[in-house]
This record gives sequence, C-alpha cells and structure tokens, in this order.
Amino acid sequence: MKIVLLGAPGAGKGSQAVKIVEHYKIPHISTGDAFRDNIARGTQIGVYAKSFMDKGQLVPDDVVVKIVAERLSKDDCKRGFLLDGFPRTINQAVELDKITGIDVALNLTADPEIVMKRLTGRRSCKCGALYHIATYDKETCEKCGGTLYIRDDDKPETIKKRLDIYAQTIDPILEFYEAKGVLITLNGDRTVAEVFEDVRRILDDID
Ligand code: AP5
Ligand code: MG
Repeated sequence: MKIVLLGAPGAGKGSQAVKIVEHYKIPHISTGDAFRDNIARGTQIGVYAKSFMDKGQLVPDDVVVKIVAERLSKDDCKRGFLLDGFPRTINQAVELDKITGIDVALNLTADPEIVMKRLTGRRSCKCGALYHIATYDKETCEKCGGTLYIRDDDKPETIKKRLDIYAQTIDPILEFYEAKGVLITLNGDRTVAEVFEDVRRILDDID
C-alpha cells in the first residue's frame, strides 16, 4: 500500500498518518519530521533546512528528494509506505514517480480559518504524537512521557506564509495525481475519527 498524504498545513496529515501507520503497519515518512529530527541533532541538513522552515518556505527539491529516495530504498518500504508532506512541488511528484508509483493520493481539504486555530494551538511530541490545547492541557505526552513543544513555524505570520506557498504550489500536484486516477479528496474539516473512518474505507478497498 503506497500512499501519499496531501493537504494544507494544519489539514490533519500528521494526525491521520499516526492512525494509518498504526492500523496498516507501514512506515510513516514525514519530510517535516525528518527535518525537525535533523534540526534537533544539529546536522548540516538540519541547519540548512531550518533556514527555510523558519521562514515558512519550502526546502529546495534536491535535498528533499534525496532524503525521500534514501528512505524509500530501505527494506521496510517494500510492502508500502505513507508519505506525509511529500511531494510539495510538481518536480517532487515527478521525481517520486521515477522511483515508484503510488496506489492513492489522499488529499485532505480544510478551511484556512480552522487550520489557523489548529496550528496556533498545536503541541507536538518528538515521538510523533500531536495534541491541541483545546482538548489536551498537559505538558507531557501521554504516549511516551516526552515534553511537548510548540513548533518554530507555528507562529501566525509563518503559518500565513506556509498557507500561501501551499496555495501557489498544490494545483499541478493535484492535476498530476488526478491524471493518474489515484487522487481522492476528503473533507478534513471533521473530527480526526470521522476523517479516519473515510480513510480506512478507502484504504481497505485498495488493500
Ligand atoms: P510539515 O511538517 O510537513 O508541515 P505542514 O505541511 O505545514 O503541515 P503540518 O504538519 O503543520 O500540519 P498537518 O496537516 O500535519 O496537521 P496536524 O495533523 O499536525 O512541513 C514543515 C516544513 O518543512 C515546511 O514548511 C517546509 O519548510 C519543510 N518541508 C517539509 N516537507 C517538505 C517538502 N516535501 N518539500 C520542501 N519542504 C518541505 O494537525 C494540526 C493540529 O490540528 C494539531 O494540533 C492536531 O491535534 C489538530 N487536528 C488535526 N486534525 C484535526 C481534526 N480533524 N479536528 C480537530 N483538530 C485536528
Ligand atoms: Mg504534519
């Protein structure tokens, strides 16, 4: 099962990804998480990526594609994978297609006002768990006990920039997957559980 998860910042990609990989036992490949991990470890890639991420800009394609290509070459991806936050440009979609085809591109839609509220209240854990202050007021992760943090790019000005860039880049990607007959668009303005119910129905049909 080879899945690409598309959607604006805050559409709920990460939240659905956690549920999908738990249920279908496939690796979760989040390019954003990969960069944040590199930033935390102080690697050269991390320092480079941070200079773009903090401004809400995309990290250049060559760096992102290399990371994804390396990850997809690992044995655990043979049975399938979930790509979260990749591709982000039409060039990334074309490069991915040279490596492998995909079974489905799930596109989560979400209202910009709702995503602004979601992102300004998000709390993240390094284990991948995601929370929102409206529904979770503790400072530690209930899964691993880690300290929750606010992402550096979750400031209102940076969120606006990320949403603008998303709007400028997404159409050709959607057209690319539509032409391949693998695009499925879902309304992400519902609860995580409601969205996941649809996701599961779609993925069970493919499996
Ligand atoms: P990335 O980490 O991919 O961030 P993003 O795409 O901006 O998306 P987010 O992670 O902010 O949102 P999400 O859709 O995952 O929402 P979540 O589930 O967390 O990328 C960050 C940066 O890295 C980029 O800006 C770029 O610089 C760089 N980068 C990454 N990939 C790249 C690439 N391929 N090319 C170039 N650069 C790249 O949910 C958000 C909040 O809402 C949470 O609090 C959650 O609890 C809550 N929530 C989620 N779903 C619901 C729901 N249904 N109802 C209520 N609350 C919900
Ligand atoms: Mg995410």
